[in-house]
Formats: sequence, C-alpha cells, structure tokens
Amino acid sequence: MPQTVAEQPLIFILNGPNLNMLGKREAGIYGTGTLADIETACGGAAKSAGLRVDFRQSNHEGEIVDWIQEAQVKAAGVVINAAALSHSSVAVHDALRLLDVPVIEVHLSNIYRREAFRHHSYVSAVASGVICGFGADGYKLAIAGMARLLAERAHG
Ligand code: DQA
Repeated sequence: MPQTVAEQPLIFILNGPNLNMLGKREAGIYGTGTLADIETACGGAAKSAGLRVDFRQSNHEGEIVDWIQEAQVKAAGVVINAAALSHSSVAVHDALRLLDVPVIEVHLSNIYRREAFRHHSYVSAVASGVICGFGADGYKLAIAGMARLLAERAHG
C-alpha cells in the first residue's frame, strides 16, 4: 500500500547564517534566487521523492544546534547548509555526530574554488555525502540522495 503523506519520512533542511540574505547577497557567487525560492523547490523535490520537509534558517549557532538535537527525535534525515558555521563550528559538528540518521551537506558555491578558509568543513566528516557548486539545484540533488539513502536503510 502506498504511504499516506503523514507516513512519509520527515527530513529537516537546515540553513545557517546569512542564507536569509540570498537574492541580495553576492549574486555573482550565490545567484539571484532567494531562500524562499529554494524552500519552494525543496517542497516540490520532496513531494516527488515521497518525503516531507521541515525547512528552517537561523543566523544563530545555538539555534542550529537545538534543531539538530530536535532532528534526533523527529527526523529521518538532515540536509544542512551550515554556511559559515561549516568552517568554524565544533558545536555543530558535535551535534551532528549524535545523529544516527543520514546527514547530507550542501553548499551553493563550490567551496573548494574559493578562499582557503572555506576548504575545510566541520560538517563533512559527519556527512554521508557532500554536494557543492550546483547552486540551488544542490538542495534538490540532496533530497534525491536522501531518498535513496532512506530507501536503502528501509530495505536493509
Ligand atoms: C555557503 C559557503 C560558505 O563558505 C559561506 O560561508 C556561506 C554559503 C554556500 O552555500 O556556498 O554562507 O555555505
């Protein structure tokens, strides 16, 4: 029997500092689309993949940590663009380590073509996969990847 929407796995999509400024922020790097556009695209991609999405953004490290802890209880997986916190936050790394659900790291830009301080991410070491450099499409790729990982887990 097909799952009802309420039975579909819930994934958290968490966005870190300054991603609320997309559309106004360094368009040459991040494009002209807004975070609301990304949220809409994620809703569509999740629907096609048979997943439910809880999409959030915060400029505050502690709030991101709280949400990761909440994901431990509520979510089947976490897609995270921790933005600048990727390069600085041991707290985000430690919170993600506690999860026993898949984590996929996303960056709009290819962080490896940018400044050296962006080349290390504290998220990558605790992620099942990393997607960067595909702009907003990276979120859709992450959702497709998450659906595959969850199906693999469900079917052993
Ligand atoms: C980013 C890359 C980070 O280096 C940067 O601090 C961001 C956005 C990206 O999506 O490309 O805020 O995570």
